[in-house]
Amino acid sequence: HRKVNSICCIGAGYVGGPTCAVIAAANPHINVQIVDVNQSRIDAWNSDVLPIYEPGLAETVAKSRNRNLFFSTNVSQAIEEADLIFVSVNTPTKKSGMGRGFAADLGYVEAATRQIAKIAKSDKIVVEKSTVPCRTAQSIRLILEANSRSGVHFDILSNPEFLAEGTAIQDLMHPDRVLIGSQDTVAGFSACASLAEVYSAWVPRDKIITMNVWSSELSKLAANAMLAQRISSINALSAICEATGADVDEVAHAVGLDSRIGPKFLKSSVGFGGSCFRKDILNLVYLSESLNLPEVAAYWRQVVEMNEYQKFRFARKVLHSLFDTMSNKRIAVFGFAFKKDTGDTRESAAITLVQSFAEEMASVAIYDPKVEERQVWLELTSNDTDIEAKVKERVTICNSALEAAGGADAIVIATEWDEFKDTNLNYADVYRVMNKPAFIFDGRSILNAGVITDIGFKLHTIGKGTEGRFE
Ligand code: NAD
Ligand code: UDX
Repeated sequence: HRKVNSICCIGAGYVGGPTCAVIAAANPHINVQIVDVNQSRIDAWNSDVLPIYEPGLAETVAKSRNRNLFFSTNVSQAIEEADLIFVSVNTPTKKSGMGRGFAADLGYVEAATRQIAKIAKSDKIVVEKSTVPCRTAQSIRLILEANSRSGVHFDILSNPEFLAEGTAIQDLMHPDRVLIGSQDTVAGFSACASLAEVYSAWVPRDKIITMNVWSSELSKLAANAMLAQRISSINALSAICEATGADVDEVAHAVGLDSRIGPKFLKSSVGFGGSCFRKDILNLVYLSESLNLPEVAAYWRQVVEMNEYQKFRFARKVLHSLFDTMSNKRIAVFGFAFKKDTGDTRESAAITLVQSFAEEMASVAIYDPKVEERQVWLELTSNDTDIEAKVKERVTICNSALEAAGGADAIVIATEWDEFKDTNLNYADVYRVMNKPAFIFDGRSILNAGVITDIGFKLHTIGKGTEGRFE
């Protein structure tokens, strides 16, 4: 197989940036160029303040930046120079047209593919890094072959990414597996070996698995669907727990000890967020429907519906507890990111909660340690100036948890940041600045109930029975 000397990554986002920074650090002999059409994002990658927050990312980038790792907007030049090109662009849910609300918008993948076809003067290995519907590699092949110079050969690989945000560097450094899908041809196997060699610089060979390209594409959707399904399953049980006096963490512990089930990813919450789960499941629903498999589609759709229900159920609990009215009350929302250790807010449950509290005429005070202020406004207003004026009447952004709690009737923990734990935040101080009765709705079950209720708070924890606590 051919040795890879030069890599281009199209898309400098949450996946392309960290992944290729790790590749560059582990392969100092490979020239890695990460390119994007977004100038400000590239400028940030070249600055001291990276465009995304991930523990360990800044250190990893610093190892190779301007040595064998480069960030630029010169997409064409990077394509021309590369032996291997990762396509790591966004694949959001379609907003209009056929399949809107479900199907993946492959417009960015197609644009990147067409640019590769136009620019390439030598053979390239084109790697699908973006999460795409099963059989997208076929479309990529057709576009490349129909638009390329004669004599230029393309091999197409599927190499889905399994990193989770907040732990991206750790996940990339120690992956459970690296998956490469290729065509069952000599050229396909050879391209697969070239990419495997890049990963083998730091990943043990037995963790690099290869398979046919359709299996590889589908495995990514399957993994996300099954992970999200575990959360919806435990969240469905959390509703039963709250109604009965069972404790969802105890149930999860007991169930997870079965080695066939395992303990991970059984944390009940206010609902999963993030850019992937909802999008990828809906993509799977659409795929199932287009394959005329309505029962399969309905099965997966329910995972998303249960998640919507969980957010609704939590918001309803807050409203009921506050005597069914929020007007003239202040609600402090602790956390706006979709999980801890990231500044990412995409699909965060906090968005739905804040919107529902604002609709109830509450005044909402948000504090998140990493999310930028403009990002909160963007999520809540979608850049619409009319909406913005209304939202800003009801919502404020604070610089600390204590500030958000000042004068509040209730605290809602939406993100499980360590600084919100009762071992890190002085809840006695928080209690003092709040209106009474002071409520806490712990949507992430991070608080020690004894500590919190001893201070005087009325505590509701997701998935905890009400026995012995307030109703
Ligand atoms: P992102 O939106 O953060 O980054 C994508 C980048 O691609 C953007 O900066 C955009 O400007 C750029 N781009 C789009 N079209 C381009 C073009 N034609 N030329 C150059 N640049 C272009 O997205 P992300 O979160 O990094 O996700 C990328 C893909 O990886 C998606 O398919 C996603 O489903 C998948 N994925 C994401 C995660 C995650 O945790 N975020 C994990 C695994 C897989
Ligand atoms: C997910 C997949 O984990 C990852 O493999 C894939 O590559 C991208 O999608 P990500 O969305 O970044 O990663 O984070 P993840 O840790 O999966 O969390 C997703 C959401 O589920 C978060 O809102 C998180 O708080 C929630 N969650 C997770 C739970 O509510 N309970 C759990 O037990 C685990």
